Amino acid sequence: MERELTLELVRVTEMAALASAQWMGRGCKNEADEAATNAMRTVFDSIAVNGTVVIGEGEMDEAPMLYIGEKVGNAESPEVDVAVDPLEGTNILAKGLPNALSVIAVADKGNLLHAPDMYMDKLAVGPRAAGLINLDDPIEKTLEIVAKANNKRIVDCTVMILDRPRHQKLIKAVRKAGARVRLIGDGDVAAVLATGFEETGIDICAGIGGAPEGVISAAALKALGGDMQARLVPEDEAEYQRCLSMGITDPHRILTLDDLVCGDDAIFAATGVTDGELLKGVRFMGGEQAETYSLVLRAKSRTIRFINTIHNLKYKPHYGLIKDK
Ligand code: FBP
Repeated sequence: MERELTLELVRVTEMAALASAQWMGRGCKNEADEAATNAMRTVFDSIAVNGTVVIGEGEMDEAPMLYIGEKVGNAESPEVDVAVDPLEGTNILAKGLPNALSVIAVADKGNLLHAPDMYMDKLAVGPRAAGLINLDDPIEKTLEIVAKANNKRIVDCTVMILDRPRHQKLIKAVRKAGARVRLIGDGDVAAVLATGFEETGIDICAGIGGAPEGVISAAALKALGGDMQARLVPEDEAEYQRCLSMGITDPHRILTLDDLVCGDDAIFAATGVTDGELLKGVRFMGGEQAETYSLVLRAKSRTIRFINTIHNLKYKPHYGLIKDK
């Protein structure tokens, strides 16, 4: 993939963030998601790639746009796999809480795991602990390994976990081992991403969240030099069969970072929708201007770019302005 694509992808997440941020705190998660999806779709079609959505807003019959299998881009080549979450953290945005993002990951064709929209068990760490983790290790052992790698005491380590009843045992075990827990209401892409940046103080992200979010965040960790292992969690026979039909021959096996994102040519872009750990959210300013904060990562060169953009909304036709009452 051409390196120019990195900046093009930021334009995609910026526009989705601008469109959905208008809905912040209005309690309308579906409208916000739709606004993000429409904006992302439109900008994507101005980009010179031949993309296929492998992770998106659902199946063709249930999602009007950016569904799995949908073609995006306006060129014959390069052929790429695209994973999108136009609004990661729909509830967060509807309530005006932190860490909602617009995210996208792109890799050469065939290089992103084609994951159904189901649950995935995840374990993510930053660069210092890369190559040392195993999803099947008890969390106590993982904490010992990661603490040593990060040159910290276990009591100084922080594990980010989605606040869900299914994680009670995990939370208890982390606390018993002496580490600290940061519970989040939603948005585990931001949590996985945080492990890749030492300044966040997040050492581990663990627990079960969405599989699409898992693949997208794996693309980010690949570019950051971190590590991740995962396992799909089919909840019934239908989900198990869905995995098989998508080419996952053993749905219960551990997926390494390379299984999630194969090869080194992956790009990840994210724009903050609400304020978060790494990125500020969209700021609407006077004079129809708005400011966005984005992060774009390229695995091939391991480049980490933070991009701060001032948009003039008069010149953004895809942004879909909500009118004053
Ligand atoms: P949405 O943006 O689709 O609402 O996802 C938010 C999220 O918190 C993800 O970050 C996470 O992977 C998943 O939902 C967890 O699912 P659940 O809310 O069912 O536990």
